[in-house]
Amino acid sequence: MRVVARNLPDHAPVATDTAYRCEETLVELLTERLDVACDALRESAALLSATERERARRLAFARDRRRFIVARARLRQLLATRLGVRPAAIELTSGPYGKPMLGPRLRASNLRFNASHSADLAVYAFARGREIGVDVEAIRTIPDADEISARFFAAREAAAYAALDVDSRPVAFVNCWTRKEAFLKAVGGGLSYPLDRVEVSLAPGAPATIVRVADTPGDACGWRLASFTPARGFVGAVVVEQWLQ
Ligand SMILES: CC(C)(COP(=O)(O)OP(=O)(O)OC[C@H]1O[C@@H](n2cnc3c(N)ncnc32)[C@H](O)[C@@H]1OP(=O)(O)O)[C@@H](O)C(=O)NCCC(=O)NCCS
Repeated sequence: MRVVARNLPDHAPVATDTAYRCEETLVELLTERLDVACDALRESAALLSATERERARRLAFARDRRRFIVARARLRQLLATRLGVRPAAIELTSGPYGKPMLGPRLRASNLRFNASHSADLAVYAFARGREIGVDVEAIRTIPDADEISARFFAAREAAAYAALDVDSRPVAFVNCWTRKEAFLKAVGGGLSYPLDRVEVSLAPGAPATIVRVADTPGDACGWRLASFTPARGFVGAVVVEQWLQ
């Protein structure tokens, strides 16, 4: 997987597993801050479809509403630049489990994308001809992380997590979470996909890898994983399809 990180900070290099570097899959990653001034918010709102404006209106908290508007407008702008159309002309639909995708008129472009948000940070990932999923999370101490890992991680992930010293656990937890979530988002199965079906590496500093998907070893599963640091205090993961016939 070759990753082009357009605006990630210098101190935060993308860490791809060395075994995957020879592959010519180009993945583009971009980050965006979502808390913007009123003018920028107004300009963003003008780019949204009626359905998106209605979705924004239904959000209970003003901060979530503002962030959704900015995130969706930015997605439209990024897609528009790559497709040579106006942002408002981007037609978005969703897969059966809610994965956003281009509408039928633009599907032939082969552009695939996914997005993730955590606090005021959004991350966008693009690839041509390959399904893609991305996830970002802020590194923080989650009070019930030990219980969540024991209950939802795959058995070997939970054992690897439990074997770490307490200081390493917050990063290990978000490593595991973002990697599994990026995989689920690439596949597009949403919450219907069993969480323990995919097993990933999680130890801080170790290469990001898919260990297995069901009984298939990670290097034969048809998906590739990379981890990255989208901003200080955040962890990101991206999963891209290896082959698309
Ligand atoms: C909706 C879900 C895809 C991601 O939710 P999330 O991590 O809370 O939120 P993120 O910001 O990372 O992703 C949201 C974005 O993913 C995209 N998305 C939504 N449904 C998706 C799906 N089925 N597949 C891929 N992408 C999807 C959308 O772009 C969405 O942005 P939008 O709300 O502005 O439209 C879903 O997987 C989920 O709710 N997961 C719950 C958490 C969980 O159990 N994780 C397991 C890890 S151990």
